[in-house]
This record gives sequence, C-alpha cells and structure tokens, in this order.
Amino acid sequence: MILYMGADHAGYPLKEFLKSHLTQQGYEIQDVGVYSEDPADYPDIAHQLTERLVQETRPALGILICGTGIGMSIAANKRAGVRAANASEPVSAALAREHNNANILCLGARVVGPELARATVEAFLRTGFSPEDRHHRRVQKLELVGGETTSRTG
Ligand code: RB5
Repeated sequence: MILYMGADHAGYPLKEFLKSHLTQQGYEIQDVGVYSEDPADYPDIAHQLTERLVQETRPALGILICGTGIGMSIAANKRAGVRAANASEPVSAALAREHNNANILCLGARVVGPELARATVEAFLRTGFSPEDRHHRRVQKLELVGGETTSRTG
C-alpha cells in the first residue's frame, strides 16, 4: 500500500508525526509537502496529491491535513476519481472506507490531537470497501452529477 501524504503549514507538524508512525508500520510514504511551517495554500497541496493519486497504478490511499480538514476535502473532491472524507474519529474514518470507498482521509490538525489522529488514520487504513452491492451502486452514482434520477433503497 502506497500512502500519499500532504499538508499545509497548519497540518505540517501532524503530517510529520503520522509519517514517522506510518513509516515504522511499513507503509511506503509519498510526501508531496509541505516541508516546513511556512505559510502555504491548501488547494496547491490537495491538487498536487490528487493528481498523483489518480495516476497511481499501485494500491494507494491519501492523507491530507490542514487546520480543519475542510479546505483540503473541498479541494481534493474537485478531482474526478477522488472521494475525500474529512473525519475526526475512527468510526467515521472506517465507515468512509466501508460505505463510501473513500480514497483520501482529511484531518484537521487544529481539531484532533496526535493520538486521535493516529487512531483515525489506523481505522481508515485497516478498513476495506464493503462487498455489498448497494454501496457499490451508490459510489458509482457519485460520478454522476445530476444525471441520475432513479432512487432505490437497500
Ligand atoms: C490555514 O490557516 C487554514 O485556513 C487551513 O489550514 C485550513 O484549515 C482551511 O480549511
């Protein structure tokens, strides 16, 4: 599993903390920056990471960190093929993988402390997409913008 990681200045210290932990866990990390706490614009980092993630041919997920996780998630979800989820605790992170097949976890470094962030990342990484048809159908519909009007339950 390749992990793409990126952060703006607000997320930089948390990125470094998580990168150290995940490297020890054996993950291959592709760090797209930033590399200091100098001010940076979160859309620049989100666009760099998502461009590389959607072109990656190996199994890969992304982690984007800003102050709240909100700016990163808005920016990341602009790119087709990205399903970025902003989560602050493990239950949401796991369900983002299981139900939504999220491929990027966004974290808010001003919202979660390092240990909660680590637990949230671990839940995201250990959970897979559900095999159930209804979740696959719904995720397929995410790629349709206003073109699908039928509604099914399940
Ligand atoms: C930077 O101050 C802050 O606005 C940014 O990290 C992020 O929280 C935006 O959503």
